Amino acid sequence: MAHKNTGVSLIVLLVLQTLWMAASQAQSPANASFRNEISRQESIYQSTGDQVPKGYSIDRSLEDYTRGLTSEFDHALANLGPKDRWLDIGAGKGHAILDYHTPGYDLTRPGGFIQRGKAQSVAISIEDRRSIRWQQEAASHGANKTQYLFSKRLQEYSLQELGKFQVITDVIGGFSYSPNLSEFMEKTLGFLELNGSFFTLLQDVRSEGGANQPFYTGARFLTEITKADGSEMKVCAWLKSITCVEVSCEFTTSWRPPIEAYRVRKVCDNVTVPALTPLLYEAGTPPERRYQIGSSLPAPSGATR
Ligand SMILES: C[S@@+](CC[C@H](N)C(=O)[O-])C[C@H]1O[C@@H](n2cnc3c(N)ncnc32)[C@H](O)[C@@H]1O
Repeated sequence: MAHKNTGVSLIVLLVLQTLWMAASQAQSPANASFRNEISRQESIYQSTGDQVPKGYSIDRSLEDYTRGLTSEFDHALANLGPKDRWLDIGAGKGHAILDYHTPGYDLTRPGGFIQRGKAQSVAISIEDRRSIRWQQEAASHGANKTQYLFSKRLQEYSLQELGKFQVITDVIGGFSYSPNLSEFMEKTLGFLELNGSFFTLLQDVRSEGGANQPFYTGARFLTEITKADGSEMKVCAWLKSITCVEVSCEFTTSWRPPIEAYRVRKVCDNVTVPALTPLLYEAGTPPERRYQIGSSLPAPSGATR
């Protein structure tokens, strides 16, 4: 697990309900630790040169996306036309979008999909990771075909600013990194067109089938959700409890640690995402997170970032 290897010495924050309820919540050690973890995470985002942790991968190709995301992703992307839009949340250097706009991409798809013209593609990253490759290639794609937005998190954009998309991807981006996962999910689905799909994945998480164990002996899964009675809720089951979406979950061991890939298709507009209260956030690449279903507990300050 990359975050174990980076040497970033990260402190576990276990927020106890009683602490959260305390009147002095804003000053509590739990909140202080939480803020500390958020600031450690911020320095990973802003790291440059030799300071970038080894596990912080920012240059995955479209081929990597296709291998990691659910099997429907390849078709969904290839079937977009010039009037459609693709949003890549947590795009890093934006290589997946550049690969998609490479002449001949369509011919490389299995079955040789018909060339339909390229969808408008928007990359979002907290920090600006654009390279010379982006500067050179994006300029040749034509007005407004490719955009790279940075300095804000997905959750900070309005619908007026971003508009809606037929395909949204997130490969170890905001879905893996956000402290407040339910808020992130709600915002993301707000940017999705009806019948559009959100493709994402998580590393080292209990799969829908439930047979897998945490990748590292003695460690826990990277993202865990518990119900109010303390029992486990799988991420796949939580996604399936969102209204107005159809969800498929695919576990694969082709990555190390293994991943579970998710397709979330929006089938009506009345989307309601069951709230998750953040219990733990430990900075990393990606961070370790724990949640409890429900919003009865006050979230630690900074948890909306
Ligand atoms: C590990 S990199 C992954 C980059 C790319 N997807 C890849 O696979 O090469 C994480 C990316 O997610 C971005 N990110 C994390 N949380 C985000 C959020 N809430 N909104 C937008 N971008 C986010 C980071 O700024 C960074 O660009």
